[in-house]
Amino acid sequence: MQEQLSQLLDRARAELPAIASRPDYEAIKARYVGPKGELTTLMKAMGGVPKEERPAMGKLINQTKSDLQALLDSALSRIEASELAARLGPPVDASLPSPDLQPGSRHPLTLVREELCSILRKAGFTVVEGPEVETEYYCFDALNTPADHPARDAQDTFYFPTDTRFSNVARKNPGERYLLRTHTSSVQIRTMLQQPPPLRVVSPGRCYRRDTVDATHSANFHQIEGLYVDRNVTVRDLKALLDYILKSLLGADTKVRFRPHYFGYTEPSFEVDLSAKHLPKVNKEWVEICGCGMVDPAVFDEVGYDSLQWSGYAFGMGLERLAMMIYGIDDIRYFYQNDLRFLRQFA
Ligand code: DAH
Repeated sequence: MQEQLSQLLDRARAELPAIASRPDYEAIKARYVGPKGELTTLMKAMGGVPKEERPAMGKLINQTKSDLQALLDSALSRIEASELAARLGPPVDASLPSPDLQPGSRHPLTLVREELCSILRKAGFTVVEGPEVETEYYCFDALNTPADHPARDAQDTFYFPTDTRFSNVARKNPGERYLLRTHTSSVQIRTMLQQPPPLRVVSPGRCYRRDTVDATHSANFHQIEGLYVDRNVTVRDLKALLDYILKSLLGADTKVRFRPHYFGYTEPSFEVDLSAKHLPKVNKEWVEICGCGMVDPAVFDEVGYDSLQWSGYAFGMGLERLAMMIYGIDDIRYFYQNDLRFLRQFA
């Protein structure tokens, strides 16, 4: 019997690796372990084995059975893998262009962002990026907007629960809360902490504020932030740059005016209105477009710039409003609905 068991296993070892189809597998399986299979028959013959040999023989049979099962299992998984490969067909190169999709086109907000960045590059600005998840320090404190400032009102802002952690967003102080940035001005701080003056940077990106959505309001929107730091920078430089940007973008007939305003991080601060009645659907004489001002020395002190040596200006403007004016779009919600009838108009 011992001899028979070992022969059986030798045969199985030779046969099983050669089978390639499921019917062959089923047939071999039946031949060995089916109700009338060879191993089954040998197991039934145990009755005729002398009593003293039975324990050893039982052990041998069990061992043979489990070796055989392992051979069967590996043959089956080999067959299954080749069946799957046959169903999947030849390997697909995911880097090839899809034959089914037409090339996409740029979103109107992307078009305006790229246009603005290229206008600003000509004036020596470099594009930098900052995280959309921010901390209170970069979004407010470092921008001279202390904890009791209305701009930090939790009602207006998307804060994360206090135990949330973002390992890729560095916090200044342990225990500081994370929030979705309410403006791109936080990138001013991150940039100044990394680069020494002088600098000229522009940072476009998505911002978030709690807002009830309607034709002109959205809880997420886009801004483009500019920061210029050098010696002897004046309001005149700021006004000249904004004139240059807005005329390049909207046409030479565009007029730009400053109104006094308050921002914690600039002194003096202004709101900028523009008049561009040559654009479609612009029927108001003056449209507010931008906040700006001369960087407050307190902000320079915070990032370690010598505020006696360095001066600068900063501005932040909303991309949606500009895109709406340029393209005559009368509802901000179109930007986010992914409606191809809308998007194809910009292709
Ligand atoms: N952060 C302001 C806002 O979201 C806009 C702004 C105002 C940006 C003045 C600036 C600035 O850089 O200097 O309304």
